[in-house]
Amino acid sequence: YEIYLNGMSGTVPRLPTDLTRLEGLAEHRLGPGPVGYVAGSAGDGSTARANRAALERRRIVPRMLRDVHERDLSVEVLGRPLPAPLALAPVGVLSIMHPDAEPAAARAAAAHGVPYVLSSASSTPIEQVAEAMGDAERWFQLYWSKDREVTRSFLDRAKAAGFTVLVVTLDTPMLAWRPRDLDQAYLPFLHGVGTANYFTDPAFLAGLAKPPQEDPNAAVLRFLGLFADPGKTWPDLAFLREHWDGPIVLKGILHPDDAREAADAGMDGVVVSNHGGRQVAGSVAAADALPGVARAVGDRLAVLFDSGVRTGDDVVKALALGARAVLLGRPYVYGLALDGQRGVDHVIRCLLAELDLTLALSGHATPSTVGTADLAADPG
Ligand code: FNR
Repeated sequence: YEIYLNGMSGTVPRLPTDLTRLEGLAEHRLGPGPVGYVAGSAGDGSTARANRAALERRRIVPRMLRDVHERDLSVEVLGRPLPAPLALAPVGVLSIMHPDAEPAAARAAAAHGVPYVLSSASSTPIEQVAEAMGDAERWFQLYWSKDREVTRSFLDRAKAAGFTVLVVTLDTPMLAWRPRDLDQAYLPFLHGVGTANYFTDPAFLAGLAKPPQEDPNAAVLRFLGLFADPGKTWPDLAFLREHWDGPIVLKGILHPDDAREAADAGMDGVVVSNHGGRQVAGSVAAADALPGVARAVGDRLAVLFDSGVRTGDDVVKALALGARAVLLGRPYVYGLALDGQRGVDHVIRCLLAELDLTLALSGHATPSTVGTADLAADPG
């Protein structure tokens, strides 16, 4: 009711409450270069469109007279209580969007107790973002480097900075063909603002003949050469299991057999995700892959979901398809671009409020009662 009450004194929200409108506003404000980095996808964008279509196609069947007076959005994920089935997805180099970058997003998430998954490709060093996170749960995303020392250094730094959950992104052993980045010559971004998390890492710097300030080209080339590793296979996960005490979640899982491999390798969770359509053009929509993965490992692993979540009903649909919680990606990045920490706060508030209402109006007082029966038969 906060928004309606403010309206009594003539105050309307600073940003739209329909989060799908933020991209257009951000493009207007920032121009096509920075927004292209966020909005862009692999190939002609068909996977990103398929992500939305797969969620829109599914329809909730609301139930009546179920006493939704007292409601509670909280869930347990990886043995941790979360205030809602929501976390912020890892997104690299946020200084492209706003000078306050990752610490602003982390602060906004922490204020709601929502986990912020810090990208290893952040424009702010791990330690600085950790400070902004206060008492909030700290989740760290790893791009699994070709260089063992860099991987070990990142894991050690994250551990020392109080991060407990490790999210390992498997779908980016190399960057895909992303026309909007290529057309805007994405490299100057890396050059200008840098993924400072790498450019301040002792193991990364040890491999450079000169500091990045003196030879930025060499630093960027080293980053591109080692940030990920197309040579990795399933047995390599043992290295991560050995070097990380807390839960490990594999991000980018779409096939049930890969989810079973994850469980067999002693992992704790998976994120069903196609990286927001940014990696495999023509990939299966993430929401279409979710039920199969949930059926395969839902009783052994925490199944999380991202790629296409924009609204409260998207979250309800993801829960019904078998997810325990979702990661929110692009919308919070546009919120950051438009209004810094306040913009991210706006996005989180809107999504949580819409989720609460949609759940209640569909007949659910908690996320735990949502199941496949809440969706109409999939027209395919
Ligand atoms: C990403 N994503 C991502 N994932 C990751 O594991 N590490 C990263 O550094 C990034 N960086 C990144 C940058 C940008 C600009 C975007 C849009 C996405 C993927 C992200 O975590 C998530 O999977 C997608 O954003 C989900 O898709 P939607 O819902 O945002 O379309």
